Amino acid sequence: CGIVGYVGNRPALPILLEGLRRLEYRGYDSAGVAVVNHRLQVVKSQGRVEQLERLVASQGLEGRSGIGHTRWATHGAPSDHNAHPHTDCSGRFAVVHNGILDNFAELRKELEARGHRFRSDTDTEVVAHLLEEAWRGDLAAALREVTRRLRGSWALACVCTDQPDTLALARQDSPLVIGVGDGQYVAGSDVTPVLATTRRVLYLDNGEVARIDLRGVTIWDARGEVVGRSPVEVAWDASAAEKGSFDHFMMKEIYEQPQAVRQTLAGRVDPAAGSVDLSGAGLSPDRLRSFERIQIVACGTAWHAGLVGRRLIEAWARLPVQVDVASEFRYGEPLVDGRTLTVAISQSGETADTLAAVREARRLGSPVLGIVNVEGSSLAREADWVLTTKAGPEVAVPSTKAYLTQVVALHLLALALSRVERPEEGRMLLQLPQRIEQTLAMEPRVRELARQLAGQSHLFYIGRGLDYAVAMEGALKLKEISYIHAEAYAAGELKHGTLALIEPGRTVVALATQEALRTKTVGNMVEVKARGGRVVAVTPDRPDARKEVEVAADALLALPDAPEGLLPVLAAVPLQMLAYFAAVERGCDVDRPRNLAKSVTVE
Ligand code: G6P
Repeated sequence: CGIVGYVGNRPALPILLEGLRRLEYRGYDSAGVAVVNHRLQVVKSQGRVEQLERLVASQGLEGRSGIGHTRWATHGAPSDHNAHPHTDCSGRFAVVHNGILDNFAELRKELEARGHRFRSDTDTEVVAHLLEEAWRGDLAAALREVTRRLRGSWALACVCTDQPDTLALARQDSPLVIGVGDGQYVAGSDVTPVLATTRRVLYLDNGEVARIDLRGVTIWDARGEVVGRSPVEVAWDASAAEKGSFDHFMMKEIYEQPQAVRQTLAGRVDPAAGSVDLSGAGLSPDRLRSFERIQIVACGTAWHAGLVGRRLIEAWARLPVQVDVASEFRYGEPLVDGRTLTVAISQSGETADTLAAVREARRLGSPVLGIVNVEGSSLAREADWVLTTKAGPEVAVPSTKAYLTQVVALHLLALALSRVERPEEGRMLLQLPQRIEQTLAMEPRVRELARQLAGQSHLFYIGRGLDYAVAMEGALKLKEISYIHAEAYAAGELKHGTLALIEPGRTVVALATQEALRTKTVGNMVEVKARGGRVVAVTPDRPDARKEVEVAADALLALPDAPEGLLPVLAAVPLQMLAYFAAVERGCDVDRPRNLAKSVTVE
C-alpha cells in the first residue's frame, strides 16, 4: 500500500492526489483521502486513483493538511468501505495504514464490547477507535499510546480535527519518509510522493512516532525519548519518475537500461586493468574473500537475478552458492553462519519477506550484503554492506531496469569474490551499456512476434545454465502483465514431464545463447517440433549459431553478436519487450497488472 500525508501552507488535496498517483504502483485496489480544516472530509472508493479524482472533483475538499492512501488489499476485500482512510465513531480521527496488525481481532472485540461500532473489515480501523480512547489533546501522544497496544507491522499516518495542522506518524517494519520542504512537509511510504516538493528527507526507524506541524518535526523512539535527526538529500529527482513520451513506464524503463547499467558499473570497474572495486560498498577484498559460502535471498524478479548470480559466483569465484526465495529461507532452518555471506537482493529494499530473511541470517551470525536500488530503504539501512544498483526510480510493477542492474551488480560481486584476477570478464562488462542499446533495436521484430503470440493461452520458456535463469524471468514477465500462462523449464528437463503439454501450435521460447550448450538445446527444440510445437529461438546473430538453430526454429529473435558472457543479460531485453507487446495487444494495464503491487511490505 502507499501512504501520503501533507501539512503546510498550500491546499493539501492536489498534493495528496499527486502523491497517490505516484504511489499507485504500490497498490491500486482502492484509494482515499482525508483533508482537515475544522472538520474531517473523507472521500474514498474502490478502484484506481483516477476514480477517486473524479469523486473529489465534485466535492472540493479544503484544508492545508491531510492524508491519502492507495491500497493493496490484505485484510478485507477491495471495496469502498474497506478503502482507507478509516475513521473513529466521533468522526474526528482519520487513519491510513500499511502493514498487518496481528492482534486486530482481539482489539476489535474489546473495542466493540466498549461500544465502538466498526464500519469496515480491515485491521486498520482499530487504530482510529483506539485513538479516540487515547485522546488527551495531543495526537502524537495518543498515537504513541496506541502503538504500545499493537502487534505486527505498521506505517501509520493520522489526522485529527481538534489539531488541524498536525500529522502523526508511526513506523514498525513498514517504511515512512518525511520530506522537509519550505514551510511544508510531505510524508510518504517512499520518496516518490515527496520529490515533487523537496529532496530533503528524514527516514523514520522502527518503533518511532513523529509529529509534524507547522513548527517542525518531532520524533520519539520506542522508549518515548525525543530523537534528534537531520534531513538527508535524496539523489533522485522528480522528473526521473515521469513517463515522458512513452505510453507506459515499463517501456520507458526498458529504454533506460543502457543508462542504468552504465551508472551501476561507474567507478566500480577499472577499464584498463579490468579489476573490480567494491570498496564503495565498504567491502575490502580481504573481507570478501574470507567467506566460504554465499547465501542469496530475494523475491520475484530479484530472485531470478539471484539465480543468475549463483551461476556466476560458482563459475568465477568457485564458492558454493545457495539461492532461496526469501519467504522459504526464513522458515527453512537455514544453514548460514559467520563464514557465510548472505546477499539480499531487492529493488525497493522494503519487501517484507526479504527483510525477514535478512534478520534471520543476521541472527544466525551471517553478515549481510544488500543489493538494493532505493537509498535509505530498510534493507539499505539494515544490511552490513550495501551495493547500490543505480537504476533510478522504477515505477512499473513489472521490474526491468532494476533486474538488469541487479544482474550487473552480481557480475561485479562474482568478480570481486574471485581469488584469481579476471580482467577480460571485467572489461567485457563495460561493453554492456552499448550492447543493450543495440539490443533495443530488436523492438520492431519483437513487436511483430508478440502480435502473433498474444492469442495464446500457454507458453513455455526453456534454456540451459544461465539461459534457464533468464527463461524464468521471461516467463514471469509474460504472465504478470499479459496474464498468459507461462512457465520456464530447464531445457533438458522438458522431456521429463512437460513435453506431455506440447501439442500442435503450442509455442516454446528457447534460449540458446551459449555455444557449449547449443547443440543440446537445439535437440530439445527438435523434440518440441516433433510434437507439433512452435519454437521461437533466441540466439546470437552469428552465422554458426543461426545455422544450427534455424533447423529447429519457426521464428528467430537474433541478439546482437556480443561476447558470449553478455548474451544471457542481453536476452532478457527482448523477453521484456515480448511480454510488454503481448500485454498491450491484449489490452492489459501494463504498468499496473491486476492483483499485484510493486513493493510488497507484508509477509
Ligand atoms: C513484488 C513485485 C515484483 C518484485 C518483488 C520483489 O512482488 O511485484 O516485481 O520482483 O516484489 O521486490 P523487490 O523490491 O524486493 O525487488
